[in-house]
Amino acid sequence: MSLQKVTIKKIIEKKQKGEKIVTITSYDYSFAKIVDESDIDLILVGDSLSMVMLGYKNTLSVTMDEMIHHTKAVSRGVSNALVVGDMPFLSYKVDIVDAVKNAGRFIQEGGAEAVKVEGGTEICPTIKAIINADIEVMGHIGLTPQAIYRFGGFMVQGKTVDAAKKLVMDAINLQKTGVFSIVLESIPWQISKLITSAVDIPTIGIGAGPYCDGQILVIHDMLGIFTDFKPKFLKYFGNIGDSIRNALHSYKNEVEMGNYPGIEHSYEFPQDDLDDIDEWFETIDIAEEVSKINKD
Ligand code: KIV
Repeated sequence: MSLQKVTIKKIIEKKQKGEKIVTITSYDYSFAKIVDESDIDLILVGDSLSMVMLGYKNTLSVTMDEMIHHTKAVSRGVSNALVVGDMPFLSYKVDIVDAVKNAGRFIQEGGAEAVKVEGGTEICPTIKAIINADIEVMGHIGLTPQAIYRFGGFMVQGKTVDAAKKLVMDAINLQKTGVFSIVLESIPWQISKLITSAVDIPTIGIGAGPYCDGQILVIHDMLGIFTDFKPKFLKYFGNIGDSIRNALHSYKNEVEMGNYPGIEHSYEFPQDDLDDIDEWFETIDIAEEVSKINKD
C-alpha cells in the first residue's frame, strides 16, 4: 500500500469531509515506523513519555532535551504521518521568547512539523508568538496533565456549568489564535460534542467521548504495555505486555535448555579449512599461550 504524506491541511479537511482523524503517541524509531506504516494520520511525541518511557510518576519531569531526543527518533521512522512534538512543562509558560525558541527546536532539531501546548485562553499570546514564527500549533484543553497539582490529580474537567463554559470559550479562543486542532482530554462527552460543533478545526479526544473529530491514545496504554493504571476511557487494543512476557519466558527456557541458538542460527566455517584448524589446535599449549600474552 502506498501511503500519502499527511499535512495539516489534510487534517483540517478531514473534519470538513466528516472523516475521523486517527492519532496516537510514539516515542521511538521502531514504534513510529510501525505506526506510520499503519496509516495513522498524526503521531504525537507526547510528554507522556515521561511516564511510559522514562518511569517518572507524572509528565512534569521530562525535559526539553529528552523530548527532542525522542522526537528525533520518531521523525526518523516516519514518512507519512504528521509528527507533532509536545512542549514539556516549563518550556513555554515562563517566557514567550523561550517558548518560541523551544518550539523551534522541535522543528529544527526534532524534525517535527508542529508542536502541542497545554492551556486555554491564557496561553493564546504565547501561541500567537509561536505561530508568528511559522510554527504550527495544536492546542490541548480539559485535563492538562502538566497542571495536575493545580487540579488535585487526574480529574475529569468541565463538570460544572462554569467550567464547561470556560472550556467552550477556550476552544473558540484557541481557534481564533490559529491552532490547527485541539486535544480534548477527560471532558464529559456532551461538552466535547458542544466544543466540536463550536469550532471549525478538528477536536481530538482522549477520554472525551465519541463525538470528537478524532481520537488519540498513548500507544503504551492501548497496547497493554503500560499497566500502572487504567483510566475509564482506555480500551486495550492488544496485549503486547503479555506477548513480550511470553516471548521472554520462551527465550529464557530455550537458552537454559540449550535449544537456542541452534546450528541454523549459527555461522559456518569453510568445511575444507576445518581440518587445518583442528590440527593446529592440537599442537598448541593453551597455558603456554596465555602466559606469553600475560608477559606481553
Ligand atoms: O502526552 C501525551 O501523550 C498527550 C496525549 C495523551 C494527548 O498529551
